[in-house]
Amino acid sequence: MTTVAIMGATVVDEDGERAGPVVVDQSTKQVVELDPAQADRELDATGCILVPAFVDLHVHLRQPGNEAAETIETGSRAAALGGYSAVVAMPNTTPCMDSAAVVTEVLSWAESALCHIKPSAAITVGRDGHALSPMGELVELGVRMFTDDGTGVQDAQLMRRALEYAGSLAADDGAEIVLSQHCEVTALSQGGVMHEGAWSARLGLGGQPAEAEELMVMRDIALSRLTGQRVHVQHLSTAGSVEMVRRAKAEGHPVTAEATPHHFTLTDACCADYDTVFKVHPPLRTDSDVDAVRQGLADGTIDAIATDHAPHTQDSKERPFDAAPPGMLGLETAFALANTELDLPLAKLLELMSTRPAWIAGLGGRHGCPIRPGQPANLTVIDLDHAWTVDRGRLASLAVNTPFHGRKVKGRIRHTIYEGEPVVIDGKATR
Ligand code: DOR
Repeated sequence: MTTVAIMGATVVDEDGERAGPVVVDQSTKQVVELDPAQADRELDATGCILVPAFVDLHVHLRQPGNEAAETIETGSRAAALGGYSAVVAMPNTTPCMDSAAVVTEVLSWAESALCHIKPSAAITVGRDGHALSPMGELVELGVRMFTDDGTGVQDAQLMRRALEYAGSLAADDGAEIVLSQHCEVTALSQGGVMHEGAWSARLGLGGQPAEAEELMVMRDIALSRLTGQRVHVQHLSTAGSVEMVRRAKAEGHPVTAEATPHHFTLTDACCADYDTVFKVHPPLRTDSDVDAVRQGLADGTIDAIATDHAPHTQDSKERPFDAAPPGMLGLETAFALANTELDLPLAKLLELMSTRPAWIAGLGGRHGCPIRPGQPANLTVIDLDHAWTVDRGRLASLAVNTPFHGRKVKGRIRHTIYEGEPVVIDGKATR
């Protein structure tokens, strides 16, 4: 038996705040009631907080198909260093995660990961928007979230059928099957490589209007109402989208939503030097959109902070702005950015980064749990006051495309415990 006593931290979870210590057991993977003096080892957490580890609803791990950008191993290490115990892997791999064979392979690679990798799967075969994937079979393998992320399902009738199909499926753990939508009407965004507005006009770059996102948010809220099925809206980026989700929730529709750290910290003005590290889908928007996303996070309209961690090789990001792939890293900087930039109480941050996303992903009961004996030991120790500067050369991710290089932030992940095992100690991964 390997037991670890986490000493000196203030425990913060849905039960409130209290003094530690907390003991975890790697063999049962749980928090245990044990005299800390009897534990096999100690972890110093003096002056830190001990919280339920985070859950990310949206990461690209690139395996299979683009292991030069990231792998399940390197991505899970980045996640652990970011304080995560679980991440939902997006299906836009090569081949796409739209079949039992590919999902089974991903699950086998995930066994040795430094956090729980929960594969999502495509809504449509090949993510090409024409035929539904074998969702029933994929649910039996443990998939709880379906998405064509990278693109949205353009055909409203097919999306309606997908929602109805999801509603007919029963997972053996009782979790709801969730359709997670990248909201973008491609007929309107086509040719756009950044937000359509004053900056795209000045830079001579094709723009994606806010309405390309908002039309699909509107349509999917309508489809949620029609089918009674929950729709999860990915990476909300416009004030109009936030307002529509706010209204849908007020009307009682089962809609949930996420926002990324880059959409609450950066604007389209960042693209001024044509630096492709700022190219992302949906694109960076305006100051008023950033304000609306922050307001949505504060008032409960947006349920979760999700990173949309999207590693890309340097070669591909060195192409011209029009030709470079969209996406930016997120896992190792998300908590520090939220802690530094959002004026939110810690309890709210934990809800946004741990409890709500765990519930949305069907991982409640295993992640985002209160820190009590008998509960899963997926925990993070954070030094809230530790100031540091993001350095792309020191990230665990294989890629370096962080838009936050050089940014000063506050709040450092000190230790991460995954299933009772310290996978990060003093800011370093243990394997
Ligand atoms: O910027 C993005 N990058 N947005 C997406 O929807 C996909 C992602 C990727 O896979 O690189």
